[in-house]
Amino acid sequence: MSIMEMEQRSITVDTISPLFEQSFGHNPQVIAAAPGRVNLIGEHTDYNDGFVLPMALEKINVVAVAPSPTGKHRWIGSPGDAVIELDSLSASSPGDPFWSNYVRGVICMLKRRGIDIPPFDMLVDSNVPRGGGLSSSAAFEVSVCTALAALCKVDIPPTERAFIGRETEHEFVHVPCGIMDQFISANGKKDHALVLDCRDLSYRYIPMVDPQVSVLVIDSAVKHSLADGGYAARRKNCEDACTILGVPSLREATLEMLEENKSQLGDLCYRRARHVVAENRRVAAFASAVEKKDWEAAGIAMSGSHASLKDDFEVSCAEVDTLVNLSYTIPSAESVYGARMTGGGFGGCIVALVKSADVEKVAQEMLDGYREALGIETSYLVTRPGDGARILFQN
Ligand code: GLA
Repeated sequence: MSIMEMEQRSITVDTISPLFEQSFGHNPQVIAAAPGRVNLIGEHTDYNDGFVLPMALEKINVVAVAPSPTGKHRWIGSPGDAVIELDSLSASSPGDPFWSNYVRGVICMLKRRGIDIPPFDMLVDSNVPRGGGLSSSAAFEVSVCTALAALCKVDIPPTERAFIGRETEHEFVHVPCGIMDQFISANGKKDHALVLDCRDLSYRYIPMVDPQVSVLVIDSAVKHSLADGGYAARRKNCEDACTILGVPSLREATLEMLEENKSQLGDLCYRRARHVVAENRRVAAFASAVEKKDWEAAGIAMSGSHASLKDDFEVSCAEVDTLVNLSYTIPSAESVYGARMTGGGFGGCIVALVKSADVEKVAQEMLDGYREALGIETSYLVTRPGDGARILFQN
């Protein structure tokens, strides 16, 4: 079964409260949520001080929490799972099971900021598709942080919560990610995408409310794990390119500079850097196209992004390319403005901008074509931009 089919449930205060009560025998004091994201354009640019343009999903990770009468931290990773029970010291160091590190990391990063978390009981539930490049982990980290901050009655601004999520990812999950996922999960805004300058974290929202255009996300059903090394290797290629060019980040590089230094860079670093430099330009082109509702121009930027991720950055895969190619060849292809892989790559989802009137038809044709080409059953999501992290309930 594909990731999206499993995740149709909606999670609300009314669904999670009784589960919490059954698990721990008392009521939650805080319920917080944080969304996954789909990145519209600007891939592998965040850790190069570049630009990204994601939007938050309506799919959320929800965390219910209350002080624990046991003197220990107890948490359940998803309804029905085993309880993790730890004293305060062991709860803030890495350990097993692997997923518990998302909670452990956040506790540790809060401690580092002088915030000691009293013993808590916590239940987590999520409908963000996992392993599909839609940032289920950022949603997890940011919602845990939002819930624990509210439990301790400390105000941690959204961007600081994003840093806490990223530090957790680096130190406890060992993925050297950029700031995009946690930033949009913390700062997302309903009906808006966000353009973020990852160099100084200045950002602006751009409305994504044209009823004529829909955002379609299709799962390749190829699992994606950024901990496998391909992501870290790309990061290293970019750092090597900076050293050769003598620039602090690829944000300072230009296409002309790359041409001049082509032989010193070597083919690999040259192509990696060319992707990043050109992708930053495509983000700007996409943002101004969306602002003008010029969906054709937005689609061209998306197609360019995919080609560059495939050929220069080499983070796509055959299945994802098949989906993107189908967007050009299905009978309703003229209703697709553009399509590209989204997220870190090596599998996961594609995102497409599609004429709303035909979005279901396009999705169905894509699914049928994918089954015919590769024998893989998959699923899709049509989504609007959702809100960022928020408190759903506080007692
Ligand atoms: C993952 C990382 C992000 C970003 C993308 C690629 O989602 O977590 O920081 O680097 O890959 O754009």
